Amino acid sequence: MRAAGMLVYSILKRVESMVADGVTTMDLEVEAERMMRDAGARPAFKNYYVPAVGQRYKYVLCTSVNDEIVHGPPSAKRVLKTGDIVSVDTGVELNGWYGDSAITIPVGEVAPQIRRLLDVTKEALELAIDQTRAGNRLFDICGAVERHVTANGFGIVREFVGHGIGSQLHEEPQVPNYVDRKNENPRLKEGMVLALEPMVNAGSPESHNKADRWTACSKDGSWSAHFEHCVAITADGPWVLTRP
Ligand code: MF3
Ligand code: CO
Repeated sequence: MRAAGMLVYSILKRVESMVADGVTTMDLEVEAERMMRDAGARPAFKNYYVPAVGQRYKYVLCTSVNDEIVHGPPSAKRVLKTGDIVSVDTGVELNGWYGDSAITIPVGEVAPQIRRLLDVTKEALELAIDQTRAGNRLFDICGAVERHVTANGFGIVREFVGHGIGSQLHEEPQVPNYVDRKNENPRLKEGMVLALEPMVNAGSPESHNKADRWTACSKDGSWSAHFEHCVAITADGPWVLTRP
C-alpha cells in the first residue's frame, strides 16, 4: 500500500506542476494515465462502477473545478484559468493494493476567501490524521474535521465520505466528515488503513448533481475544496501512505 500511495503522490505532484492558465483537465488526465501505465499500475477509478450513478466511471482522474465538489470528469473543453481551483482526485491499484489521494490546486492567485477555504480544509485533514491512532474511535476523526470546519464557518459536505481502503478501493468503515450518531463508532486498531477526505464548501453544505449525473456541485454555487490521504494505523502512530 505504501508503493501504491507513493505512486499516487508522484502523479498528484506532476499534475500540480502542470496546472496553469490555459491547461485543460483532459491534459492532466492524459499525463496521469501515462504515469500509471509506465508504473505498471491499474487506474482504480477507470471503469469503477458507481451504483448511485448506475454507470462505470470513464477516467483515471476526477477533476472538480470551483463550485464542483467531487467526481468531475476530465474534459478537453474544460480550460483552467487564473483564479480557479481544481480538485484532482486519483487512485491506483498496484500489485493488488490500493492508494487514493486528492488535492485542491489553485490556478495562480485565488481570492483570499478561497485561499482560506483551501487552508482550512487541509488543516481539517491534518487534524483528522492526528486522530488516526490505535485506541481512539472513529468519531475522534470525524469530530476533529467537524469542529475545525464549523469553527471557520464553512459547510461540511455530507453526501460523500471517506472510507477504509486496502485490497479494495472502498472498504469498511465509512468515514464521514462529521459525527454521525446513527453510525457505529468502532475502536481504531493497528493495521487499519483509512482514506480520510474532507470535502468543504465555502457556503452552504448542500450539493446536487449536474446534468452529466457524475459531477457533484454545491447548490448555492459556492466553491468547494477536497483533500484526501490514506493513513495507516501503526504502533508508532499514524503513517500517511500517500506522501513522503
Ligand atoms: N475518489 C473517490 C473516493 O475516494 C472515488 C472516485 S469514484 C469514481 O472514494 F467514480 F471516480 F471512481
Ligand atoms: Co477516497
